[in-house]
Amino acid sequence: MAIFKIGRNDPCWCGCGKKYKACHQAFDDKLRLLKLQGKKVPSHKIIKTEAQIAGIRKAGEMNTKVLDYIEPFVKEGISTEELNRLVHEYTLSLGCIPAPLNYEGYPKSVCISINDVVCHGIPSADRILQSGDIVNVDCTTICDGYFGDASRMYCIGDVDPAWKKLVEDTKTALDLGVAAAKPWEHLGDVGYAINTFAKEQGYSVVREIGGHGVGVEFHEDPWVSHIGQKGKDMVLVPGMTFTIEPMINLGEPDVVQDEDDGWTITTEDGSPSAQWEYTLVMTEDGPEIISH
Ligand code: MF3
Ligand code: CO
Ligand code: CO
Repeated sequence: MAIFKIGRNDPCWCGCGKKYKACHQAFDDKLRLLKLQGKKVPSHKIIKTEAQIAGIRKAGEMNTKVLDYIEPFVKEGISTEELNRLVHEYTLSLGCIPAPLNYEGYPKSVCISINDVVCHGIPSADRILQSGDIVNVDCTTICDGYFGDASRMYCIGDVDPAWKKLVEDTKTALDLGVAAAKPWEHLGDVGYAINTFAKEQGYSVVREIGGHGVGVEFHEDPWVSHIGQKGKDMVLVPGMTFTIEPMINLGEPDVVQDEDDGWTITTEDGSPSAQWEYTLVMTEDGPEIISH
């Protein structure tokens, strides 16, 4: 059995057309050294090629378009089923596919999570947006086989000031997480920054559900903790594409999954929860947001 070893003058594995020595050889040497130092490093599988990044970037742009499109409809009086229909139709009109539909049996084209629903809320004709609601709309779009994933929050009518602050602070937490994501540094820094800020504000961060690698599939490695430990977890390498999507609760961190629908996650104590999500690509110069 032959062991595959790429030669210095062979074409690079990334498909750029250049010789290995002129492209990823130094990069691979760097990864090998980090691994020898005992660090967790990504496999080539989750380090995207330039062609894949171009595809994921386009999917991210399409996903942002879907989120922009739905925004003016997220108002008092509309049902979440109607929002689902609008997301579905618009996504198809772009020549794209809504990733949630039939994903592991999920029944709708978007996740809409209101108040104590942390994530994975299923749109329903019975749930009409009303004054006081805080709403997360989470869209994932497949374009030419690539995935972009992002979510935003909305405050409907008169919202309790503490809830409104939770919504704003959760966005700040996400942005702090992005700022903490540095090439060749650790993924744990991201969750650490998010959790530190959330705790300072008196909130709690959901532990069981995290961000994820994304792009070629909906959910890939690595799993992204929003708690995190500084200097721990996988090294963030240029070419990785992933989400950061903190869920932050006004009360306790514990969450429960609905036993009937198998999807809806709520806070155990009934306190409200907020979430924002971006898809990012890591570059040598830092993270770039490719869907928001
Ligand atoms: N968009 C969610 C995420 O950010 C995943 C939803 S899975 C679904 O990872 F099946 F509920 F759509
Ligand atoms: Co996601
Ligand atoms: Co999402």
